Amino acid sequence: MKIPLKSAAELEGMRVSCRMTAEVLGRVAAAVQPGVTTGELDELARKLIADMRARPSFLGYRGYPAAMCISVNDEVIHGIPGRRVVMPGDVVSLDVGVYYRGFHGDSATTVMVGVVDPDVIRLVEATRRALEAALAVARPGARLSDVSHIVETTAKSAGCSVVREFVGHGIGRELHEEPQVANFGAAGRGPVLRPGMTLAIEPMVNLGRPEVSVLDDKWTVVTRDGQPSAHFEHTVAVLEGGMEILSRA
Ligand code: MF3
Ligand code: CO
Repeated sequence: MKIPLKSAAELEGMRVSCRMTAEVLGRVAAAVQPGVTTGELDELARKLIADMRARPSFLGYRGYPAAMCISVNDEVIHGIPGRRVVMPGDVVSLDVGVYYRGFHGDSATTVMVGVVDPDVIRLVEATRRALEAALAVARPGARLSDVSHIVETTAKSAGCSVVREFVGHGIGRELHEEPQVANFGAAGRGPVLRPGMTLAIEPMVNLGRPEVSVLDDKWTVVTRDGQPSAHFEHTVAVLEGGMEILSRA
C-alpha cells in the first residue's frame, strides 16, 4: 500500500518513456482506417518502439501476447490484435505502453472510423471529457477519489456508465504500482495526491450497462449488453503547484 514518489531524475525518465508512448499512440491512431487489421496496427507499434530502442510494456506482461491492446466496438479493453479488419462505423480503442531505461509510459485513445452512430460520438466525447475532467482535478492536495468521482459524474451526465472491474494505476518503474485509480466513487477519500506521484488515469466508459465479461482468450473484456465502449488514458505526474500530462503529444 505504499505509493512510490518519484525524484526529479525519475520524473525525467518518465518524461522520456511517456513522450515515446505518445509518439507511438499518435502514429498508430493515424494509421487506423477501413481495411487495416488490428494485427497490422500492432506490427506498426512494435516497429516504432523497436526503432526507439525501447520495449513494449504490455508484451509478455502476465503472458499478454502483443504490444498493444486494440478493442473494437463492444470490446472494452485488452483486445488482442490479430486478423480482425477495421470497418467503417467501428469505434476502436488503442492502448500502448513503452518501457525505456527503467520507466514505463501508458496511454490510450479511442478513434471512430468513418461515419459512426451518433450515440457512439456521445460515448467517445463523454469518455474524452471524463479524462480531461480527471486531469484537471489531479493536483497536489486533492484526494485520490476526487479523480474517481469526476470520471463517474462526467460519464453519467452523458447517459453513459463506467466499468467497475478495471481501474487506472500508479506507474513508473513498474507498469502497475500503487494506488489503484477507480473510475467511480464518492469524492474526498483515499490518499492525498502529493508531488512525485505518477498515475495512469484511464476511464473505461460504456454506452449501455456497466457490466463486462472476459472472453475465453482470458484477456478481451467485452460489454455484457453488446453495446460499444470507449477508453482514454494518460500518464500524469503530480508536481509542486500543479501537474503534468506526461503522455500528451
Ligand atoms: N493500460 C492497460 C493497463 O494499464 C493495459 C495493460 S495490458 C497488459 O492495465 F497486457 F499489459 F496487461
Ligand atoms: Co494503464
